[in-house]
Amino acid sequence: MVALMAITSVFAQETLTIDAAKKGAAISPDMYGIFFEDINFGADGGLYAELIKNRSFEFTYPFTGWVPFGKVELLNENAPFPNNPNYIRLNPAPHHAKFTGIENEGYRGIGLKKGADYRFSVWARSVDGKEQRIYVDLVDSRNDIIVRDTITIAGTEWKKYQSIIESNVTDSHAKVRIFLNSRGSVDMDHISLFPTDTWKGRENGMRKDLAQALYDLQPKVFRFPGGCIVEGTDLATRYAWKNSVGPVENRKLNENRWHYTFDYRLYPDYFQSYGLGFFEFFQLCEDFGAEPLPVISCGLACQFQNWHEGAHAPIDNLDEYIQDAIDLIEFANGATDTKWGKLRAEMGHPAPFNLKYLAVGNEQWDDLYVERLEAFVKVLREKHPEIQIIGGAGPYASGDMLKHLWPEMKRLKVDLVDEHYYMAPTWFWNNAGRYDDYDREGPKVFAGEYAAHHPNRGNNFEAALSEAAFMTGLERNADIVRLATYAPLFAHVDGWQWRPDLIWFDNLRVVRSINYYVQQLYSHNSGTHVLSTTSNGKVLKGENRQYATACYDANTNEVIVKIVNGTEQPTNYTLDIKLPKKSKIAGEATLTTLHADDMLIENTLDNPHNVVPHKTTVAIANGQTVQIPAMTFSIYRIALK
Ligand code: AHR
Repeated sequence: MVALMAITSVFAQETLTIDAAKKGAAISPDMYGIFFEDINFGADGGLYAELIKNRSFEFTYPFTGWVPFGKVELLNENAPFPNNPNYIRLNPAPHHAKFTGIENEGYRGIGLKKGADYRFSVWARSVDGKEQRIYVDLVDSRNDIIVRDTITIAGTEWKKYQSIIESNVTDSHAKVRIFLNSRGSVDMDHISLFPTDTWKGRENGMRKDLAQALYDLQPKVFRFPGGCIVEGTDLATRYAWKNSVGPVENRKLNENRWHYTFDYRLYPDYFQSYGLGFFEFFQLCEDFGAEPLPVISCGLACQFQNWHEGAHAPIDNLDEYIQDAIDLIEFANGATDTKWGKLRAEMGHPAPFNLKYLAVGNEQWDDLYVERLEAFVKVLREKHPEIQIIGGAGPYASGDMLKHLWPEMKRLKVDLVDEHYYMAPTWFWNNAGRYDDYDREGPKVFAGEYAAHHPNRGNNFEAALSEAAFMTGLERNADIVRLATYAPLFAHVDGWQWRPDLIWFDNLRVVRSINYYVQQLYSHNSGTHVLSTTSNGKVLKGENRQYATACYDANTNEVIVKIVNGTEQPTNYTLDIKLPKKSKIAGEATLTTLHADDMLIENTLDNPHNVVPHKTTVAIANGQTVQIPAMTFSIYRIALK
């Protein structure tokens, strides 16, 4: 099936003039990145590899995710981890043929792989101090035992017990059952199961396939941890970064606002364990070679959900929030003899994380935001002039909020302004020129959240191709657009609240959307300097659905040309590349294309390679005519010598 929205080209043959003799604006080395938020079970149940849901019994209903049987008690006195006080006691069943135990369902099932090892761990003590045995069973989706392990608990002190258990089956919906095989009682807390094969083999690690998908994007900037979860539905449940660091057992559980943001997609079992916390975020940034870009609360709870000023921190009572920002900088960059730098070192990273960006607030608006941001800016500029401050332009691509906020951001002299736009593909097709006329005297732009929302909300080819078209405008305006991150990043196929999303997964598999490949192609082909690119003196920014941009890569001495043809007809361009003195075209180029005949096609878990980039080597010369196929994103990397 072809092209719902595609149009027929009236374009026959044009000249594409690229001025490589004169380097334009420097492209930010941090330009293309990722934005992570724990939405759609992106962290707990997703990237964070923990397989047990509600491991510390702290959900609002402490047995959520668990099925207790026999004589199980919930206790909280003399708990081993004060921030997560609940724990359970397994008491012997009243009859020798009965059992006491507890079963965990995982995050919509537990994904196990044949031949893979899993690290089971539990904090436990024997109530009378004598040796007690527990069985740990991995149980498949038909309720057959995959493997049984026995752990002996002894002594009245809380201790961590662990064992490595190998699964001999693959099952995406397994469960874990733990039961008492003894005459005495056992207390248990923080019951955990991780694959041993996590990203970089870390114990409190990330799911390897999902982290690999991020790594393969080569993101240069990493915005975290949200999004709306930074704000919270109320201030009490905002993302408080200090709760996300330190020993993982003692990180205070928070609800996840996405469990009830949309009443047509409620997820009452959605909480934030903070197992993936700020230390792990910074660590991932380092793994990926991406600049960390944390977002902190500015003292405003979600403005969509809170219309009364009383819901927010009063303007004269922002100290705690501003201190959070200052302490975060210390956590990331401070010396190891400072309070927060010391914690970073204790967590295993004495060297600084070299934080240079900090966003204050997510989607905020009105003077409520401006006056709070102003208070942050004042203190941050004084104490940390080295930090680039990111303010916001509200939740929409245009309108009163954006119009009000931009001049205010200029007045406050923030370094960058975070813009968000979730719009139809038509908007993306029509807005490749969005930044051409932006004020060059004010703050720079961070396109912090954007995605083309097709009416069917799919990650389909049209959405992806329209994003590729729009992004030619980001590159062309790289003097002002310094950072860009698609949103959201992850979604569990059985647990999403929002779509489209860049990467989809289930308990065992992952699929990179077509939109993912657009992001990847920009990231891998970002170049260092913009080059003027015109056809008959005009910029190609959407007329006849033609889009083009070019840049020079000083690292590789290549001219990189990106062309999007959004029509049903091929287009021909005669290349006219003005070269620097003493430079020549080497004669070869790599050509990467992303194409589909069907605008509605998507990559799926079952068919993950429906639309993927294709790379070839082609001969190239000045004056040559290149054909850009219909409905295709093409990238030429033309080597110079
Ligand atoms: O990306 C999903 C949500 O969209 C983000 O949490 C929020 O910032 C925006 O409204």
